[in-house]
Amino acid sequence: MSPSRIPRHVAIIMDGNGRWARQRGLPRIKGHEAGAESVRAVLRAARESGVKYLTLYAFSSENWVRPPAEVQGLMRLLRKFLREEEDELHANRVRLRAIGRLRDLPPPVRRELKRVMRATESYAARQLILALSYGGRVEIVDAVRSIARKVSEGDLQPGRIQEKTIRAHLYAPDVPDPDLMIRTSGELRLSNFLLWQLSYAELYFTDVLWPDFREEHFRAALEEYARRERRFGDIGAGR
Ligand code: IPE
Ligand code: IPE
Ligand code: MG
Repeated sequence: MSPSRIPRHVAIIMDGNGRWARQRGLPRIKGHEAGAESVRAVLRAARESGVKYLTLYAFSSENWVRPPAEVQGLMRLLRKFLREEEDELHANRVRLRAIGRLRDLPPPVRRELKRVMRATESYAARQLILALSYGGRVEIVDAVRSIARKVSEGDLQPGRIQEKTIRAHLYAPDVPDPDLMIRTSGELRLSNFLLWQLSYAELYFTDVLWPDFREEHFRAALEEYARRERRFGDIGAGR
């Protein structure tokens, strides 16, 4: 694959853990546990394919309404994942980042997250970005608030607000927009994921449930991406 055909940034909505568990007569949390193995597989595949940024939707701002036991189970798994994955991140020089309202996370999870983020912040070549307590609309609300603060303090003229001003106030302003968005489990929606950033992404949907998603599925998505023609409003290559 020519380098331009490899997405620089892939964003994934990891969906279908609950259905995977249900099909096996297991509690939903077992599906989330199995999903952690898919995360590891995709991290490997992304690295081997030369994808520089990988954003994973791990917990949405809407997911807080789930039964408390499931939310607690997810938070426990997240902490476990951070602890177990740290060596692997160092070994592969991957920087861990997070986007979302991190202050909503239970303090032990937040502490672990901050620690691993700090420990890996010097790595530049590859980044793993976890979307946690993340909502695309809330991200825009947070951006608007900080822009409004600058305006009210006289540091910014309303007429000077441009697209790049809004981008600069998002959670990870230096991360380029995703080129490819993958959603598993057959649902055809965005569920409030990266609303601003996905504006020109190629969208890829698969029926595979997240706990079954492996390297070959990730590669199939990259192959499909390589066949797409991105036009960005222009008239295309055969002009
Ligand atoms: C995705 O799987 C994981 C999270 C949203 C945290 P789900 O838990 O949404 O699984 P389904 O959609 O119920 O199968
Ligand atoms: C989206 O999945 C959020 C994550 C994968 C973390 P959901 O399962 O929460 O989405 P909906 O509710 O089906 O739209
Ligand atoms: Mg779901």
